[in-house]
Amino acid sequence: MSTIASRLAVLDAVPDTPAVVIDRGVLQRNIDAMAADAKAGGKALRPHAKTHKMVAVARMQLAAGSRGLQVAKIGEAEALLPSGVDDIFIGYPIVGAAKIARLLALAERVRVSVSLDDLAVAEPISRAAAARGMRIPVLLEINTGMDRVGVTPDRAVETARRLADLPGLELRGVKTHEGQALSRSSTVAETEREAYAACALMVETAEAIRAAGLPAPEVSLGCTGTARFDVRAPGVTEVRPGTYVFYDATQVAHGQATLEDVAAWVIATVVSRPDAERAVVDAGSKVLSSDRLNQRDAPPIVGRLVDRPDHHVVRVNEEHGVIATPPGAQLRIGDRVAIVPSHICPVVNLTDEVLVAEDGALVDTWRVDARGRVR
Ligand SMILES: Cc1ncc(COP(=O)(O)O)c(C=O)c1O
Repeated sequence: MSTIASRLAVLDAVPDTPAVVIDRGVLQRNIDAMAADAKAGGKALRPHAKTHKMVAVARMQLAAGSRGLQVAKIGEAEALLPSGVDDIFIGYPIVGAAKIARLLALAERVRVSVSLDDLAVAEPISRAAAARGMRIPVLLEINTGMDRVGVTPDRAVETARRLADLPGLELRGVKTHEGQALSRSSTVAETEREAYAACALMVETAEAIRAAGLPAPEVSLGCTGTARFDVRAPGVTEVRPGTYVFYDATQVAHGQATLEDVAAWVIATVVSRPDAERAVVDAGSKVLSSDRLNQRDAPPIVGRLVDRPDHHVVRVNEEHGVIATPPGAQLRIGDRVAIVPSHICPVVNLTDEVLVAEDGALVDTWRVDARGRVR
């Protein structure tokens, strides 16, 4: 059965809506495909678990050969320990005494590395780790163009020198999230150019750090849209994609995946049909989030319908999702629809559990173990 047909087959099997459904077969295929790409390119794969936040999915990624997991928050790492993960990278600045205490407690159980971009973040971790006789592996965060966190490449050697001098830390290299490769592009060719530009900047930066006599064995990039290029770039050692497990409407709009590759979607019910141009469903921002399509030239929609390419969720309030309906649309109150969200990661974080489908039948329910673990 095609993925689209199997999605529509579970529409009526879902006991109540709104509900997030995961197709286990498609999920496994996405996990295996990324693992095969990374292996073929000779790169380590460290998926970002913030997309799924589930022990069940983490186990599948580890079984497929992932080196470990990345998380954003210590709470995510703690919640995912039952997966058996023994190597966790926290790719987010750890700031504050409470978090540093939890970081060190976690590091006593499994290998934990962190990334940071400032001595003001590094020094308290260094002091606390040194006082306990521990060494925390650190990647220096580089800003390759997203302009979020990270030092610009011209400041990397100086920052790395000062990091390398701190006790309790072990400088391991450089890390970036090259999200600009998606937001700046609308075609796969443009994304490819942006991806290789980020890879080149990262490899040059690591080489400059090594030329200064400092250690930088790891060159780590992380983004679903660029992963297939990153795995082919010489000098890159690790890729950390997250969204690839499920994909979403943004990845489809970028040509990174087709609708058949999308493993997660939301089933909602039409609750109002106030006029010919609008259908309102029971999935608003508390289900779909209000994240919009991240593609330069695309309309800023919150989601699209699986089987009706001209029906988009154009607006959300907390409990209302407004679908703009084209002339002659056949939606009626009580009808169920399958929505592919524009950004799947916050959608998963908004639900306690997901329904698991296989070949058009519901077969299981999985807890979203790290749901809401934002500390
Ligand atoms: C630091 C970091 N690494 C990796 C990723 C994975 O990116 P994606 O979900 O596009 O695969 C993200 C996404 O937000 C991130 O912030």
